Amino acid sequence: MLETLKAAESEALERLDAVESREELALWRREHLGRESGLASVLGSLGALPREQRPAVGKLANEIKQRLQAAMEAKEPAFRSESGARGVDVTLPGFPARAGRLHPVATTLRRMKAAFSQMGFQVLEGPDVELDEYNFSLLNFPPNHPARDSYDSFYTTRPGVLLRTHTSPGQVRVMQRTGAPVRAVIPGACYRYDQPDASHNLMFYQMEGLAVGPNIRMTDLLGAIGALVRMLFGEGSRMRFRGHYFPFTEPSIETDLACTVCEGAGCSLCKYSGWVEIIPGGMVHPNVLRNGGIDPARYTGFAFGAGVDRIAALWYRIPDIRYLYENDLRFLGQFG
Ligand code: DAH
Repeated sequence: MLETLKAAESEALERLDAVESREELALWRREHLGRESGLASVLGSLGALPREQRPAVGKLANEIKQRLQAAMEAKEPAFRSESGARGVDVTLPGFPARAGRLHPVATTLRRMKAAFSQMGFQVLEGPDVELDEYNFSLLNFPPNHPARDSYDSFYTTRPGVLLRTHTSPGQVRVMQRTGAPVRAVIPGACYRYDQPDASHNLMFYQMEGLAVGPNIRMTDLLGAIGALVRMLFGEGSRMRFRGHYFPFTEPSIETDLACTVCEGAGCSLCKYSGWVEIIPGGMVHPNVLRNGGIDPARYTGFAFGAGVDRIAALWYRIPDIRYLYENDLRFLGQFG
């Protein structure tokens, strides 16, 4: 038995000499020192040996184990540095980094901000979580005003605090902060407890616009909206204005753009009408100017609230604005 062990040791050491790589060393270790090695089985079955042989065999097997271990450890560092030098091939192509891109709504917002910057508007922002007072009362919807019905709101548990249903509260905040004259656009997310469909969503983006000055007229509003639409959609784009009602503007209008998805044939984005409402607006109501600290006898103003998601859908010909927020990269990766 002792002779067999010694022979096994010299064979193992010989084989170790021939080992040339880290992988071979791992194999050698498994074979000669691992749980299924000859050495392990000798140590594991000492109990089966005649009693008088056990101490000598056990002692030798343990000594051999330690010597093999030491020999292996002596050899290891050579491979470590060698494999380090060989392990990185700097000429191999790297893993491709996935290039990010802008969300179609972000791109649309940027184009709209750029268009308004050219017309002298500054870009400001208001809070997403708003006071009822700013979202409604100061905009000339007193409590119980029937027009509140068209803004199904997400209220918080704190009375008088809600997720803004539109960016219009920004009008009053801007007027209170800067006074007149002022030209600003106020982009941001809005939240409504609406039934989602191709042109409505629980969350969507608006870009509010406000211009207050000594002699601002309705034609200035129509001109600014027309300029925006031409900058975004090109000279030949088809749009129309119609009368509308909002408590905070008088008179009020709605701007429709000819549907680019169906080109008039009818689809769910344009509700089979061939037109999509994109920019409501009007002349700022005197009460709202007053609430903003501005004297309506000295100043007039126009305001609008452009629907960014719908404008993005019309620009990219996306038939349903809900796709914008499903966060499917196969879809979003096509734009931007
Ligand atoms: N805030 C309105 C809405 O979300 C849109 C709107 C209408 C904004 C007329 C305006 C405006 O600034 O003048 O329905």
